[in-house]
Amino acid sequence: MIFGATGDLARRKLLPSLYRAVSEGGIRDRAYVLGIAPGNLDDDSFRLMSREALAGAGHTGTDAARWCDERVLFEKVPRDAESLTDLARRIESIEADNDLPGNRAFYLALPPPAVPAVVEFLGAAHLNRSAGWTRLVVEKPFGRDLDSARSLNDSLHKYFDEGQIFRIDHYLGKETVQNLLTFRFANPLFESTWNRDRLASIEITVAESIGVGTRAGYYETSGVIRDMIQNHMAQLLTLVSMEAPSRFTADAIRNEKVQVLESVKPISPADVVLGQYTAGTISGRDAAGYREEPGVATDSATPTYVAMKVAIESWRWQGVPIFLRTGKRLPRRTTQIAVTYRPAPVCILHGVGDDCPINPNVIVLTLQPDEGFSVRFELKAPGEPVTVTSEELSFDYHSEFSDIPDAYQTLIADIMVGDQTLFVRGDEVEASWRLFAPLLDAELEVHSYAAGTWGPAATEDRLGLGAGDWTMRD
Ligand code: BG6
Repeated sequence: MIFGATGDLARRKLLPSLYRAVSEGGIRDRAYVLGIAPGNLDDDSFRLMSREALAGAGHTGTDAARWCDERVLFEKVPRDAESLTDLARRIESIEADNDLPGNRAFYLALPPPAVPAVVEFLGAAHLNRSAGWTRLVVEKPFGRDLDSARSLNDSLHKYFDEGQIFRIDHYLGKETVQNLLTFRFANPLFESTWNRDRLASIEITVAESIGVGTRAGYYETSGVIRDMIQNHMAQLLTLVSMEAPSRFTADAIRNEKVQVLESVKPISPADVVLGQYTAGTISGRDAAGYREEPGVATDSATPTYVAMKVAIESWRWQGVPIFLRTGKRLPRRTTQIAVTYRPAPVCILHGVGDDCPINPNVIVLTLQPDEGFSVRFELKAPGEPVTVTSEELSFDYHSEFSDIPDAYQTLIADIMVGDQTLFVRGDEVEASWRLFAPLLDAELEVHSYAAGTWGPAATEDRLGLGAGDWTMRD
């Protein structure tokens, strides 16, 4: 059951991902999709819309069209007690007619203010329980700050247990994000060095070349900390720094993630730089400034960029700065985690000169696009005099694997099997707000940066990055 079935998310992501999950075996049982939305649609017109949504995602064949015709249905969003009863009856009759066991997932693809009312609906109609399982899927943002996140959690928990709630952060569905735990905990070579004894710093960059586009209405009330830091960046931070879970289960993993968030030292506003893009050029094309985007106030102070230094107070991480950086209208789209090792403790190489030109080892995990990773190491260039040069070992997903599943496809298949590993737990959401929400009230200056640059010039000095600045990989 998709609430908000005619919206952008449902058409662009959910319907195509559901179809792919079914056709590729991620959903093994017979599943029907009931789209729920306002408007004057019926089964047939919604099927047409679904076919178009699938075609837009490249599924133009007869199988996709047949799936829409046979498995997709529509119901108007309930407005009162009577139509709510009708909805509950419709669901029961679909199950009875098709001999289904009563396993239900309610996907709330809705603007945040609409969520509590729909949860109340479901509770009032006793749709929070069924003969099989019932699951509730909620999209980000999970609140705007700690208080609103708590109240959202309270309204979900009024009718649903935590084990029924699947909070989506689509970054967790990305293959390369999931791989962070495999990369670390299946490779003693790396994991045994993943600590303060060996590492000098970690940088996490989520750079986007797109601007705010047509989403100003949302973005003006959100800004980069709510839009990217509290959720996606917090997930990357926890996965890169958490301890090994006792078992590979949803709760064991999520316990460790919460522990990271709770161990981060309160972030000093002095260690945070905010920015907002002005007009510039990206890949040779002119890009408007944020304040010139449609729907943005001409004196808007909404930040579109943030860089910050965080410190995890733990035996593993004490003294290792972790830099987080994300922004819109940066020179290119890339999500990277750069792990820089401490330099060689002494320079014993004979003949390399007093300046000892040895670079530290660096592992760069590129999460998107160009998924892969590289390890930088030092090498004696052949011949005399002795010269040390940096080289790379690298791995590229696309040369090894033909297909990387879309995040939503993975997440939808996991909802159907009831695996919560890739979903955000209620206490995790609150721990993340507890850490980052104070920055929303910190009255920080919003520096400007030209579109197509790597953010405000003040960043590196302020964060004390020093020589070499960010360790990016081209
Ligand atoms: C969304 C944010 O959650 O993530 C957007 O609201 C952002 O502002 C997007 O552009 C980035 O996602 P991805 O998958 O393109 O890195």
